[in-house]
Amino acid sequence: MNVTQADIERGLRELGLSSASHVLVHSSYKAFGGVDGDPAAVVQALVDASATLMMPAFASHRSAVWDERGLFENNAYPTRPPEGWDISQVEPFTHNTPANSTMGVINETFRREYDVSRSGNPMMSFVAYGALAGELCGAGTDIDAVEPINRLMQAGGDVLLLGVTHTNSTAIHLAEQLAGRRQFERYAMTPDGVRMAMSGGCGNPFDDLQTHVEHLERRTEVGAATLRCYALQPYVETARKLIESDPEALLCLVAKECIRCDAHRNRVPA
Ligand SMILES: CC(C)(COP(=O)(O)OP(=O)(O)OC[C@H]1O[C@@H](n2cnc3c(N)ncnc32)[C@H](O)[C@@H]1OP(=O)(O)O)[C@@H](O)C(=O)NCCC(=O)NCCS
Ligand SMILES: [Zn+2]
Repeated sequence: MNVTQADIERGLRELGLSSASHVLVHSSYKAFGGVDGDPAAVVQALVDASATLMMPAFASHRSAVWDERGLFENNAYPTRPPEGWDISQVEPFTHNTPANSTMGVINETFRREYDVSRSGNPMMSFVAYGALAGELCGAGTDIDAVEPINRLMQAGGDVLLLGVTHTNSTAIHLAEQLAGRRQFERYAMTPDGVRMAMSGGCGNPFDDLQTHVEHLERRTEVGAATLRCYALQPYVETARKLIESDPEALLCLVAKECIRCDAHRNRVPA
């Protein structure tokens, strides 16, 4: 049976979200198993259930540039352009650049349908709407990809995983950074030409965090979807401490199978 906007709103209330909440959402539309009213109904429920709504709207698939000035040492930067890469296909990142399709249809609907603020990192931007949107995504967000999440965390925000797992949870990249794991330098096209932007690494092993954050979790089901919500501050703090106590935590286990995790691992002092 399809879920309705009212079902989703009920689920969000069960998670403790309210008109005082500032929330970062990572989502899968298909996870519900059928929605009455298309992705716009989901976005409307999320907007109505929060004071500020933020979602990733990464545009790297359009804006990323292979740049021969790239750093190669310990930066997981490709020594040559990816196969088939063609600079004539690259688009300068602007406020209106569509999000990568890997962000999901809910995010793209939100970006398109609302008067959102958008952070300035041309690879990994966030869009936000509501009370703190301008503050979260405003000046100072054009290089450090996770700065909007840092600001959301300082404001007492939450992260909601809507039908997805921690592998999509960009807040864990913030935890990595706070624990001393540098993000990677990448290059992207902007209206002012190519410029450097920091970008998060690999999220594939991030479900290893689950057992450490289970006690923080507020959880409910809506249709076929599982919704999990965490206060960002203890969530990020838990991941930060885990990495500090084990510098190999939340990295791919097998060396030489993931260049980004290897780059992090190789920065670990012997
Ligand atoms: C990749 C990911 C988005 C895939 O999830 P998904 O549910 O399969 O994808 P979407 O949310 O885009 O939903 C797609 C479905 O919406 C439906 N849909 C799309 N537009 C629609 C519309 N206008 N009306 C009705 N249905 C629509 C289609 O059924 C589509 O399925 P199809 O592609 O099989 O036809 C999800 O697994 C994920 O990773 N989400 C988190 C992304 C994120 O936050 N990343 C940031 C850190 S890495
Ligand atoms: Zn990896």
